[in-house]
Amino acid sequence: MASTERGPQRSAPASISVAVRTSPDPRTLEEMYLDLMKRSLTRVLFAKEYQRQTLSPSRLWLRACNAVVRGVLSPLNLELVRVIRSGPEDYLESGHAAKNRVEDSETMLGTRQLDHMQMCINDVLDRGIPGDLVEAGVWRGGMTIFMRAALGVRRERKRRVWVVDSFEGLPNPDAALDSFGWKAGEMAVSVDEVRGNFARYGLLDDQVVFLKGFFSDTLPKAPISALSILRVDADLYESTRDVLENLYPKLSVGGYAIFDDYQNLIDCRRAVDEYRKTLSIREPITKIDSRAIFWRKTAHAGQ
Ligand SMILES: C[S@@+](CC[C@H](N)C(=O)[O-])C[C@H]1O[C@@H](n2cnc3c(N)ncnc32)[C@H](O)[C@@H]1O
Repeated sequence: MASTERGPQRSAPASISVAVRTSPDPRTLEEMYLDLMKRSLTRVLFAKEYQRQTLSPSRLWLRACNAVVRGVLSPLNLELVRVIRSGPEDYLESGHAAKNRVEDSETMLGTRQLDHMQMCINDVLDRGIPGDLVEAGVWRGGMTIFMRAALGVRRERKRRVWVVDSFEGLPNPDAALDSFGWKAGEMAVSVDEVRGNFARYGLLDDQVVFLKGFFSDTLPKAPISALSILRVDADLYESTRDVLENLYPKLSVGGYAIFDDYQNLIDCRRAVDEYRKTLSIREPITKIDSRAIFWRKTAHAGQ
């Protein structure tokens, strides 16, 4: 029998949400609210062992076939779906475009990363580390929605959550710098859809700031003075480098730098490693889940 962090994994359809436990173990009303947020944003709350998922083939000829079949089925109110199998690990861990999960989740991230974000936010608030919170690369906005919720339960009314994305998907990757085969426009989610996701949770207010456009255009002139949390989730070498160069100097000492995809995307890792080397950043890197890492800034670079 497979097991998760806290106990046996049962195979009954409703067991996935039961097997996934969040951290801290929710005791207060505030923790219970954040636990429910994590379950809703990842959709583990609704997860079943077998999941229907819309087909979205990446190969051109398969996409063409899919379009033809859909054209035939649609007037009959029928749909072509694939049935995927998912388990607790798919919700504890992150997964691209939520391919192994309920497909309309607001985040690709797993609960481990949301748990970690909760810890970081509580820590910077407890220690009075100055600055706003940023996520660069938000997709449907789930992590930033969670950041706003976590500030809310601490009655923090000043710090803002910066929601930074092109809202048109990835820029055109430079093939010399990115080996993964990403395509321009992948993962596009409009700013209206992300705003709508905030609004559905009752969390769209003036502490949430949207910065729309490619990082290389928006970040050099972004009116951000100090950050306590910098989360980078942008998949590409250049995107990761652009965020680091523009925002890492604004991260307060004591604040957290968090990088999704450091362990699984070699180009992302190279961008982080090169930046650390150039600025002689020596804070140790710690893993969050099987993809993301973080360090806590202990000094301004070069000091
Ligand atoms: C993997 S998704 C982010 C997932 C998200 N953090 C979540 O919680 O599910 C990557 C995002 O980065 C954005 N992105 C990547 N490079 C960018 C750039 N140079 N400028 C603006 N947005 C960028 C894409 O539009 C996409 O929304």
